[in-house]
Amino acid sequence: MKMKANSFRVTIREAEENDADAIKRIIDSVAKEKHYIVPERSRENWKQAIKEIKERKGLILVAEINEMPVGMAHLVSGRFEKNKHVGFLGICILKEFGGKGIGTRMMEYMIKWAKEHGELEKISLNVFSTNRVAIKLYRKFGFEIEGICRKQFKIEDRYVDEIIMGKWLT
Ligand SMILES: CC(C)(COP(=O)(O)OP(=O)(O)OC[C@H]1O[C@@H](n2cnc3c(N)ncnc32)[C@H](O)[C@@H]1OP(=O)(O)O)[C@@H](O)C(=O)NCCC(=O)NCCS
Repeated sequence: MKMKANSFRVTIREAEENDADAIKRIIDSVAKEKHYIVPERSRENWKQAIKEIKERKGLILVAEINEMPVGMAHLVSGRFEKNKHVGFLGICILKEFGGKGIGTRMMEYMIKWAKEHGELEKISLNVFSTNRVAIKLYRKFGFEIEGICRKQFKIEDRYVDEIIMGKWLT
C-alpha cells in the first residue's frame, strides 16, 4: 500500500523476519523516551517474535520512508480459547516521524485487515493517560475507554494512569 504523508512517500507493509533489527531499533528508540511504552528496552529476538506472530495468524507491520523502517505495529489475538476473539494492538513510530499521518495509515491497515481476516471480534489496547496523541489516534478510529487503572505507572516520579481502550469490529 503506497501513500503520501506530507512530502514523504510512506509504504506500509507486512514485516518479514529480516525486519527484526529495524523493529528492535524503533522500539529501543521509543522506549528510551520513557513516556510512551512500558518496557525500558525492546525484546532481543524480534526474528522469533515475527515468526510467532505469523504462526498465530497475527499481523505485524512496518512503515517505511524511502525503504527505511520508521514505524512498526502489531495485532495479535489472545493466546487462550477464552480471549482469542480479542486482538491486542501495539504501535510505535520514531519520534522524528510522528505527526505525519503514519500512525493513521497503520491503524487503517490493521483495522481493515482485522475485519477481513481471522476471527477477531474486538481490538484492545493499553495506553498511558498522558499519551495525548495516541489517545487521539485511537479515538479517531472509534476506540472507547473501557477502564482506567489509577497510578498504575510511575514515570520520572510522576504517577500515570493506564487507560484500557477497546473497539468492537462486529
Ligand atoms: C502515537 C503514535 C502511534 C501516533 O502516530 P502518528 O503518526 O504520530 O499520528 P498521526 O500523524 O497519524 O496523527 C494522529 C492524530 O493525532 C494528531 N497529532 C499528531 N501529532 C500530534 C501532536 N504532536 N499534537 C497534537 N496532535 C497530534 C493528528 O493531528 C491526528 O489527528 P487528526 O487526524 O484528527 O488530525 C506515534 O506518535 C507514536 O508511535 N508515538 C510513540 C509511541 C507510542 O506512543 N505508541 C503508542 C503507545 S500506546
